Amino acid sequence: MASDPVVDLAPSAPILGIETSCDETAAAVVSGARTVMSSVVSSQIDLHARYGGVVPEIAGRAHLELLVPVIAEAMLEARIESRDVAAIGATYGPGLIGSLLIGVSAAKALALAWGVPFVAVNHLEAHLHAALIEEPDLPMPLVVLLVSGGHTMLIRMDGPGSYEVLGATLDDAAGEAFDKVARFLGLGYPGGPAIDALAMAGDPTAVSFPRAMLDQGWDFSFSGLKTSVINHVRRHPEIDTADVAASFQAAVCDVLVAKARRAAREIGAEGLGLAGGVAANSQLREAVLDACVADGLRAFLPSRAMCTDNAAMVAAAAYHRLRSDGPSPADTGAVPGLRLC
Ligand code: KG4
Ligand code: ZN
Repeated sequence: MASDPVVDLAPSAPILGIETSCDETAAAVVSGARTVMSSVVSSQIDLHARYGGVVPEIAGRAHLELLVPVIAEAMLEARIESRDVAAIGATYGPGLIGSLLIGVSAAKALALAWGVPFVAVNHLEAHLHAALIEEPDLPMPLVVLLVSGGHTMLIRMDGPGSYEVLGATLDDAAGEAFDKVARFLGLGYPGGPAIDALAMAGDPTAVSFPRAMLDQGWDFSFSGLKTSVINHVRRHPEIDTADVAASFQAAVCDVLVAKARRAAREIGAEGLGLAGGVAANSQLREAVLDACVADGLRAFLPSRAMCTDNAAMVAAAAYHRLRSDGPSPADTGAVPGLRLC
């Protein structure tokens, strides 16, 4: 039985979400954890691309410049004034310390000025809420693959706030592998979308790259795969880059989907879902759909915009956290190494 909420929010209470954990400056207004009234994402990709990855110092400075206009735009698009905001949620970890601090400080200052609660939101939990915004009545338990630039986790989800991490990467995250392989292939940053697009023209069976730990436990390892791609291309410089991209992507997807399916079977899950930036990958989405059809599971794939970092997922997570735990203390700081549970 669900326990009584600590804070009783009206189902339509507009919550302002703020996301600054990495290189997207984002603000959104979500009412009642379901209706996205606005979602503004200002990407810093152009600022970091020439360095081949996110430069923390540049990210922090850019958040500082962009956050206030991004919040103003989110409020304008949602057609609300400060007096309409019921609470403010901001990502407080995991992420880059300098970037997180900008969002947390802004959220606390605005919450104080507007006299509304501040809610510290875990970025990983926010990714899990991205799917719930679009499909609030998902059947539980679910097995969710949370695959992003910083994390690769296999999670059992029994409802908002109720998670068990079944497995995680032992080395590189899936998105990190995409980014590193893309950089080696000269495809630029961020690598995931570039490999996704190039792989469409390639043969996924061209090279049989290793599927590490395929039948072993719940954890993942992607750093050997990355090395294997690099060694193969060095030995065969004439190889078609599209074939390398497609073969690499197939190896990542095979391992992710095989483990998620096995986990779903073992825990008797009702469905299988994706979250995080890599969940935007075309082949991964197709493979999860196919697996769900074959295994009689419900698939839930957030829209691509909901997979990558955004603040609507932060506002949705804030709604649930406020109801279950109440407002966060004013001395809450940024926690770069925050874990899901
Ligand atoms: O969740 P996210 O936006 O930020 C983090 O919390 O890390 O994920 C970013 C990661 C990057 O590694 C990016 O290359 C990857 O997601 N990504 C993709 C795709 N779109 C973004 N990876 C594979 N295929 C894509 N279409
Ligand atoms: Zn993320």
